[in-house]
Amino acid sequence: MNSIIVGASAGIGRSLAEQLASLGHNLILVSSDQRDIDCLAKDLSIRFNSKVELFSLDLNNKNTEDLVTYGLSVLNKIDNLFLIAGWISNEDYIGTSKEIINYTLDVNLRSMIFLINSFYPHFEKTGGNIVGIGSVASIRGRKNNCIYSTAKRALEFYFECLRHSKTNSHFFVQFYRLGYVQTQMSFGSKMLIPTVTTNYISNKIIAGLEKDLSCHYLPFWWRFVGTVLRKLPWFFYSKLNF
Ligand SMILES: NC(=O)c1ccc[n+]([C@@H]2O[C@H](COP(=O)([O-])OP(=O)(O)OC[C@H]3O[C@@H](n4cnc5c(N)ncnc54)[C@H](OP(=O)(O)O)[C@@H]3O)[C@@H](O)[C@H]2O)c1
Repeated sequence: MNSIIVGASAGIGRSLAEQLASLGHNLILVSSDQRDIDCLAKDLSIRFNSKVELFSLDLNNKNTEDLVTYGLSVLNKIDNLFLIAGWISNEDYIGTSKEIINYTLDVNLRSMIFLINSFYPHFEKTGGNIVGIGSVASIRGRKNNCIYSTAKRALEFYFECLRHSKTNSHFFVQFYRLGYVQTQMSFGSKMLIPTVTTNYISNKIIAGLEKDLSCHYLPFWWRFVGTVLRKLPWFFYSKLNF
């Protein structure tokens, strides 16, 4: 199998790269700076004897066509596109700067839409999996992480459009709403609900390949939390400080 991981330098993407290499996948690891994934690529190709290539793509710049061209030139066929990358700012509140708004929307939403559109003709022809990552932050609006959660909710919506548009094609789409995961993104945040490891998430993502999953909660208990949060009347919800 041949897989591209966008956001492979850290957290969930890095764990996914290790798991996929151990299963014998050939990989293209994508990060904004190739130097961040150079050692990882060398380590994986030596340990697991897989082909591991690197590609620099700053999602802020959105030149996604180059990744398709590069991917097809080195792997010939791409079976899985993992859109894992994400970015969050601690200045993401109502009234934040245009820079934070643009960067957050570019990395979490616009670039993902460009990537999906760039790879769509390939997957329509050959089949495979496109995997997207959302967040429980988008269950209901909060005063924190406003732009990030807006982007994740919109991305979720775009994945539904993708699922609907491919009804006659043979590729699969999985979209996960993630709870708290132990990575640098959640480091230092106050967690009322237990966190899970990156390995737990990457194992579940791999187990979900070849299935059509819309908005699947990981870990599963967030489905119950999400239902309670959504059903909570505004009077009570507005009093929550989280
Ligand atoms: N951790 C959590 O609790 C949590 C909860 C819900 C959802 N999520 C979602 O899970 C996904 C993975 O998060 P994580 O916790 O593993 O995050 P992480 O450890 O911070 O890793 C983020 C990844 O995104 C890449 N990235 C960020 N900005 C980029 C840019 N401008 N261009 C290219 N790549 C960029 C990073 O690569 P470089 O910076 O090296 O380029 C890195 O590989 C994200 O979509 C996140 O929103 C995480």
